[in-house]
Amino acid sequence: MNTKVSVLGAGNVGATTAHLIVQSGLADVVLFDISDGVPQGKALDLAEARPLWNVASSIVGTNDFGDTRGSDIIVVTAGLPRKPGMSRDDLLHANAGVIRQVVSETAKLSPDALFIVVTNPMDVMTQISREVSGFKSSRVIGMGGILDASRFRTFISFELGISPEDIETIVLGGHGDFMVPLPEYTTVKGIPLKEFIAPERINELIHRARNGGAEIVALLKTGSAYYAPAASVFQMVKSVILDEKRLLPCAALLDGEYGIKGTYVGVPVILGRNGVEKIIELNLTDDEAAQFSKSAHAVREMVAIALSK
Ligand code: APR
Repeated sequence: MNTKVSVLGAGNVGATTAHLIVQSGLADVVLFDISDGVPQGKALDLAEARPLWNVASSIVGTNDFGDTRGSDIIVVTAGLPRKPGMSRDDLLHANAGVIRQVVSETAKLSPDALFIVVTNPMDVMTQISREVSGFKSSRVIGMGGILDASRFRTFISFELGISPEDIETIVLGGHGDFMVPLPEYTTVKGIPLKEFIAPERINELIHRARNGGAEIVALLKTGSAYYAPAASVFQMVKSVILDEKRLLPCAALLDGEYGIKGTYVGVPVILGRNGVEKIIELNLTDDEAAQFSKSAHAVREMVAIALSK
């Protein structure tokens, strides 16, 4: 039987994620949305692209949770996008309600699934998804660090005129505003970044990466980023389906790692068929450890606010 991936939310991020999965031929896809006609229309459009992509995976658009039954992976993108001037936190209450609904409905129908949560504020929504689903924490994972790292890699690549492929980095902490960059662990084909760029300039690139989402919101004016977010989700989906065991920065539930217990926060993990198979602990400088702990604290505060309503 083919792997089945359900994508909840057929907006920009959801539909682009469905596009990448269908085009890869790695899984059958169900695209679910509350809006009537949108998931059906986008799914039909994607189905009609399959002969040109030479893939046979199925793609179904639906407003019926029943169609997600038996999913192996559920990608959660349903919610409201961030508008200009709106912080991620403003979205907290609206999106917490949406997440509670879509995760509780789909978890019942796919008890063996793995959730990948994208809806912002992502770290908080991942924690809520885990509580609502009751799933093992290794099977409820947030997408944020891959995107933050990809943005940082992009800006380094722009700066140096070197292929982004050859730039490696890892980031920790909450997605976006609370990202904890690790310049010491950033290299250009294994060569430390500081050999290429002065520390003040590295800080400017970090600042741009941290605000990468807001920069795109300001340009688009209506809506937020979706190509790079969907590409980040696809990297996670692929690592799970093919059991690649990639080392990727994802939001995972910490159980004492980095001195934190019971909070979802971005850390390097090994991602394979069983979801988070290992959390990698790195030695941090005092400053990085302080930033990380601040980031975890912010997630905890937002979860408390979300759960208080
Ligand atoms: N059930 C199902 N779908 C829903 C629900 C719900 N209760 N509420 C909203 N949606 C759908 C909307 O109808 C819309 O099609 O979620 C979709 C969201 O799509 P967009 O508005 O295009 O947002 P998008 O850019 O895809 O971002 C989705 O990902 O990166 C994050 O910050 C972003 O939280 C946002 C999410």
